[in-house]
Amino acid sequence: MASSTLRTARTVLWTLVAVAALGVGWVYVSQTVLQPQPRTIAGSAYGTGDYQLVDHNGEPFTYQSLLGRPAMVFFGFTHCPDVCPTTLADMTVWYERLGADADDLAAYFVSVDPERDTPEIIGNYVGWTERVVGVTGDRAEIDKAISAWGVYARRVENDGDGYNVDHTASVFLIDPQGGFFGTIAYMENTETAIGKLRRLLGPG
Ligand code: NI
Repeated sequence: MASSTLRTARTVLWTLVAVAALGVGWVYVSQTVLQPQPRTIAGSAYGTGDYQLVDHNGEPFTYQSLLGRPAMVFFGFTHCPDVCPTTLADMTVWYERLGADADDLAAYFVSVDPERDTPEIIGNYVGWTERVVGVTGDRAEIDKAISAWGVYARRVENDGDGYNVDHTASVFLIDPQGGFFGTIAYMENTETAIGKLRRLLGPG
């Protein structure tokens, strides 16, 4: 009697262990496999959509604006405390390092916070870089672009006042045909980033 009770208890315990293991496995699968991933097939058209945005010079910015030149595209916002200033500084270093080889390389900083980022404000924000072009627009058009680029952007209220926007921190690399070329991760090693950009720019 006692030993069969023990067996039952052991069976129950092992069942619980197995269920827990399945649970851990599921969390892993759901976070790594089932999360929407950017469409990352090299060379395929990327960021396509009918969004109508405006750059900080007042010129229209659409998907077609990317055609004809290699480009870096980054989504962020001017109130960003860390990721955006760091990435703009990194882009500036890349341009300096590449020198004349990067004369043809475009760079766009697209706002995920159009309520605060007017063309003038975003223009002032990126102005010191000399090369990065700020892009903003109506909320609905920005949302279309966020969706087209598979970008994550979520408003987070601050404790005191105001808000931040959590956002995708990768820089998208787009070839002159508008095809996906790759990404540069946030704070990626400078040599690695330069290598990717040189491949994007080609033997030229
Ligand atoms: Ni940011």
